[in-house]
This record gives sequence, C-alpha cells and structure tokens, in this order.
Amino acid sequence: MKAIQTMEVIHSIADLRSRIREYRRKNDGSVGFVPTMGYLHEGHASLLRKARSQSGLVVLSIFVNPLQFGPGEDFERYPRNTERDLEVAEAAGADLVFMPSVSEMYPTPTRTTVAVSGLTSRLCGASRPGHFDGVATVVSKLFHIVQPDQAFFGLKDAQQVAVIQQMVQDLNLPVEIVPCPTLREQDGLAMSSRNVYLSDEERKQALVLSQALDKAKEFVLSRPNFNTAELESLVRKHIATAPLAVIDYAEVLAFPTLEPFENSTHTHSIILALAVKFGKTRLIDNVIIQLRK
Ligand code: PAF
Repeated sequence: MKAIQTMEVIHSIADLRSRIREYRRKNDGSVGFVPTMGYLHEGHASLLRKARSQSGLVVLSIFVNPLQFGPGEDFERYPRNTERDLEVAEAAGADLVFMPSVSEMYPTPTRTTVAVSGLTSRLCGASRPGHFDGVATVVSKLFHIVQPDQAFFGLKDAQQVAVIQQMVQDLNLPVEIVPCPTLREQDGLAMSSRNVYLSDEERKQALVLSQALDKAKEFVLSRPNFNTAELESLVRKHIATAPLAVIDYAEVLAFPTLEPFENSTHTHSIILALAVKFGKTRLIDNVIIQLRK
C-alpha cells in the first residue's frame, strides 16, 4: 500500500521536512531514501522498487551536485530530463521527489564539508580529487534533511558505497545503507546515465569492460592462489583489444577496505575496479568477488 496516492514533487527543504514529519506523525512505517543525480534509468528504478518493497514512504532526490564535479568535468553537460525522470519515479513507486535548486542546497558559500580519508585515496578518489568530499558532503546534508531509516545505493559505484558506509559509521548517522546490485544492459554494459554520451562505435567497444570483469571472475575462482599482478594484466590486455579504450585504472583491492590486496592475506572479498575512457566519456565498472578462504 502506497503511503501517498499521488507522487509529490517538492523543491524546498522546509516543505520536504514538513511532509516527512507529517508522514511520521500519522504512520509508523519506515522512510526509504534513494539519492540520485537524475537522468534515471532501470538501475535507479530498481533502487526505487527495492525501497518500495521495504519502506512505508519512499523519497527520491534528484540533484546534480556541483560539489562533486572537478574543473573541466561534465557538470554543465550532465544529462537532464525531468519529465522522463518523474515518469520513471512514479512507475517505480516513489512517493516524494525532492528536486532542490543549487541555491536551496548551498545558499551561502559552503564552509563545512565532510571528508572521508583513506578510502578515498585510491581509484576514483585519486583520479578525481575532491570528488568524494563533494559526495560525502551532499549525502550527509541529504541524510540530515530526509532523516531516512534506510538509504539505497547501487554497487556500480562501489567505492561510493564504501565511503558512505564509513561516513555513516564514523558520524553515528542513524541510517542503514542498503547496497544494491549493478544493473546491466542485455549485452553486459553497466547501466549509467553517462552511457548516453557514447557514440555507436564507443558503445560497442565499451563492452570490453564487462567482458574483462567476467574473465577476471573466472580466473580468480578457478585459481585460488592467483597472483594479483597477473590478474590485473589479464584485464588490461582484454581492455586493450578495444582501440578506443584509454584505461584510467584497473585495480584489484580488498573490499570494502579498499586496501592493497595480497593473495596471502585473509581477505574475504576483493574488488576489481575499472575506470576507462572512450572518447570524452569515462565509464566505471567493477566486480566484487567473494574468495573461498
Ligand atoms: O551516485 C550518485 O548519483 C551521486 O553521487 C549521489 C549519491 C546522488 C550524490 O550526489
């Protein structure tokens, strides 16, 4: 049973707070939250459906957060389509859609930011300096505004999930983080709002990412004593079969600590994380593999 019959779109923090307070006063169901930057695809819809199945009230935020984009990145041209987003949100069961303006979220120069150390020094944290400070800051603001019981995040951004879990633990935020599986197109490409940037040829060649991850998984599971350098090299070689691919990183780390991984240690899960550019488009993908230790 939906808490609210017709989905509501809310632009101000005060209105959202009062709507959620009203829900909590009248109901004892939980509040589930799905933060996004919009241009919703089936991956976002799956997060909303999961939230719908577990929560009394489902809140979606759509906010392209300038703080997490570096100079020269795609903040200005990040794809936006509000009309379609609202259709997807409604069909997937959202109750409230929070769409603040930049000035609503950052009304004065921001002097307080949240930075999670350690976990952010590798992978996207190394390639995109300041990115995770922007993510941690906006997610912590959104958590304070929505005060959800559960928040749902996709594992395509596995480093983001690890960073947010650490922030929640360190700051004693009363929210459960629910990591959700990556959704893929039929041919294996991980769903991403940025896939729309790819030309037909880039889209075709981008399949090397999921293929490389499949190969890596097979390699790891069939060789319990595998060597990390050998694994990384296998993955790099496969990606290099796509002439347009330019590797930013292809790394194997312990998960969720994101510490360097040695196959002699008692790590139970590893992540093979990829960031690869096709033309101007930088795609990320990963596989998390449970080791039989
Ligand atoms: O994953 C995203 O879309 C963004 O990083 C998030 C979590 C909505 C914060 O802006």
